[in-house]
Amino acid sequence: MPRHFLRDDDLTPAEQKQVLELGMAFREDRHIRQPLSGPRAVAFITDKPTLRTQLSFATGIAELGGFPMVVDGNLAQIGKRESIADTTRVISRQVSAIVWRTFGDERIAEMASVSDVPVVNALTDGFHPCQILADLLTIAQHRGGVAALPGQTLAYLGDAANNMANSYLLGGATAGLHVRVGGPQDYLPDAAIVARAREIAAGTGGSVVVTTDPVETVRGADVVATDTWVSMGDEAQAASRATPFLPFQLGTDLLAHAAADAIVLHCLPAYRGKEITAEVIDGPQSVVFDEAENRLHAQKALLAWLLDR
Ligand code: NVA
Repeated sequence: MPRHFLRDDDLTPAEQKQVLELGMAFREDRHIRQPLSGPRAVAFITDKPTLRTQLSFATGIAELGGFPMVVDGNLAQIGKRESIADTTRVISRQVSAIVWRTFGDERIAEMASVSDVPVVNALTDGFHPCQILADLLTIAQHRGGVAALPGQTLAYLGDAANNMANSYLLGGATAGLHVRVGGPQDYLPDAAIVARAREIAAGTGGSVVVTTDPVETVRGADVVATDTWVSMGDEAQAASRATPFLPFQLGTDLLAHAAADAIVLHCLPAYRGKEITAEVIDGPQSVVFDEAENRLHAQKALLAWLLDR
């Protein structure tokens, strides 16, 4: 059975550390390893809009010596034109790994259950685990390496029920971070995710706080992160989502409650004037473009690590 990466907790703390260390090595030299030389192909399939994810996976697969086989989900219509299982059997006979961005998590779980090659979650409704690897790499980059991650406090503000919140909870706890997520009462994470994050944190020295108070979320934090209030797939709720999040906008007043040297993360695309002000995202504490670059290094490390298994 191949190893898959569908959720952040598919890597143990020790395994996540190996991936991050390899990611740091790829940051130093993009061409240290070519596990896909041949070239071997990796399928990148997307059912939702993408820029960073397609770009970083395609570039990364090429730099690993492979061929990025980009498949438009609108053409493939996986699960509609052909079942997920049949599609997966066809794809996995041709490629060395499958990277999929899709909607429900049950879709990618079904793919993984029949795939002969590793399946990687490139964002689902529930999780965005590759982004969190990149975010952890970015914190390591700015805080003295992977060894400096445990004990850092990461505050995530906004839609605390979305894929980024879930992945910060699981992936952050795995890295030994103190994870705080803050959002309006109706947009808090599922109890099961919080319980799983606390279980992981108990073993890594991290901790988990969920709150509806934006100031409590960011107070003293080393890292402050936010994300869009309207995720892909939530567009029909744009109007009902316009007001509840307003107290969670990351502006200079709120950021002033974080540590003086706090760094600011945003997975992008960002909506200036909504979840984050232009002053903050374009300001001196923002490292969002390092974070975007680190998608490349983190995902190359993940693919190389999975292909080694
Ligand atoms: N939560 C966002 C992340 C975008 C990269 C979404 O799912 O649309």
